[in-house]
Amino acid sequence: ETKKKNSYEIQTLTGWLLKQEQSGTIDAELTIVLSSISMACKQIASLVQRAGISNLTGVQGAVNVQGEDQKKLDVISNEVFTNCLKSSGRTGIIASEEEDVPVAVEESYSGNYIVVFDPLDGSSNIDAAVSTGSIFGIYAPDDECLVDLSDDSNLDSVQQKCVVSVCQPGSNLLAAGYCMYSSSVIFVLTVGTGVYVFTLDPMYGEFVLTQEELKIPRAGKIYAFNEGNYQMWDDKLKAYMDSLKDPGTSGKPYSARYIGSLVGDFHRTLLYGGIYGYPRDKKSKNGKLRLLYECAPMSFIVEQAGGKGSDGHQRILDIKPTEIHQRVPLFIGSTEEVEKLEKFLA
Ligand code: AHG
Ligand code: MN
Ligand code: MN
Ligand code: MN
Repeated sequence: ETKKKNSYEIQTLTGWLLKQEQSGTIDAELTIVLSSISMACKQIASLVQRAGISNLTGVQGAVNVQGEDQKKLDVISNEVFTNCLKSSGRTGIIASEEEDVPVAVEESYSGNYIVVFDPLDGSSNIDAAVSTGSIFGIYAPDDECLVDLSDDSNLDSVQQKCVVSVCQPGSNLLAAGYCMYSSSVIFVLTVGTGVYVFTLDPMYGEFVLTQEELKIPRAGKIYAFNEGNYQMWDDKLKAYMDSLKDPGTSGKPYSARYIGSLVGDFHRTLLYGGIYGYPRDKKSKNGKLRLLYECAPMSFIVEQAGGKGSDGHQRILDIKPTEIHQRVPLFIGSTEEVEKLEKFLA
C-alpha cells in the first residue's frame, strides 16, 4: 500500500529538487543552478533583514542602465546572485536588471544554462523595510549560439551572440521563480509541472515545502495598479478602472492593494486572486516593467497556477524580446480578471 506520510515528514527544497531530478523532470545541471539560486536568495534575505544594522540602506550613488538610482542592496544583491551562479559552474550566460549587457560566464564547465534575474525587486521599499523580492528565469543553453570565450579576438561578436541567446520568448522558459523577503521568506518555483511554495525555516536555514501545485483563484475582487498614473492612462483603461469602483448589484466594489513591489503584489494576487497591472501611459510608452526578468518569469508562474499574463492584447509568454531591458505593459492574475481587462482594451 502507499507509504503513509509521517506527520512530521518535512520536504526541503533540496529534497524536492532531487525528487524532480530522479523523476527526470529536470537534469542534474539544472538542479545545481536552482540550488545555487536558492542559496543566493537566502543570503539576500539575511542582508535585507539586517540592512539598517549593517548600513546597507540608501543609494549606491550610481545610475543603472534603466536610468534608476541604484540602491546599495540592488548592487550587492546583483553581486550575490552573480557569484552564486558563476560558482555553480553550470551557468553559461546571465542577464540582470543591474547589468548593462548579458555576461558570458567563463567559469561554466557543464550545463551552460541561461539565467535572467531581477536581483532586488521593489528596491524603492528597502529603506522602509517593506516587502521586496528577487525574480529569476532559466532558459536552456542555446547550442547553435554557444559563446566561445576562448575566441576573445572578436569580443563584440561574443557579446552579440549572448544577446541573441538571451532574447527568447517566455514560452521557452524551463524554470521560473521568485523569493519574497517579507514577514516570511518565501521561495516560489515552477519547473513546468505546477507551482510549488517553500517557506524559509530560520531555525535551520532551509526552505521547507509549504504548498504544492498552487492554483490561483479564477476571479478575485482585488486590484493592484498605481492609480497615481490614472490621468496619463488611455480612455479604455480609465473606463476599466472606473468599472472596478462601481459597487454594482453586489454593493461591494473591488479593493485596492498596492505595495510597489511586483513580487509582493504578485504573491498576494497568486494566493487571494485578483489582478496586478502596470499599464503603458503617456510618460512610459511601454509601461515600466521589464519583459525578460520580471514579466515573463511571473507569467510562466501564473499560467502554471491557472492564471493569465498579458500585455493587454497578447500573451506575455509569446513575446520575443528584441533587447534585454525591453519594457512591456503587464496585466497578470486571475483568468477572469485579466480577460475582463482585455475586453475593455479591445
Ligand atoms: P525594481 O525595484 O526591480 O526596479 O522594480 C520595481 C517595479 C516593481 O517591483 C513595482 O511593482 C513597480 O516597479 C512599482 O513602480 P511604481 O513605483 O512606479 O508604482
Ligand atoms: Mn530597479
Ligand atoms: Mn523589479
Ligand atoms: Mn530590481
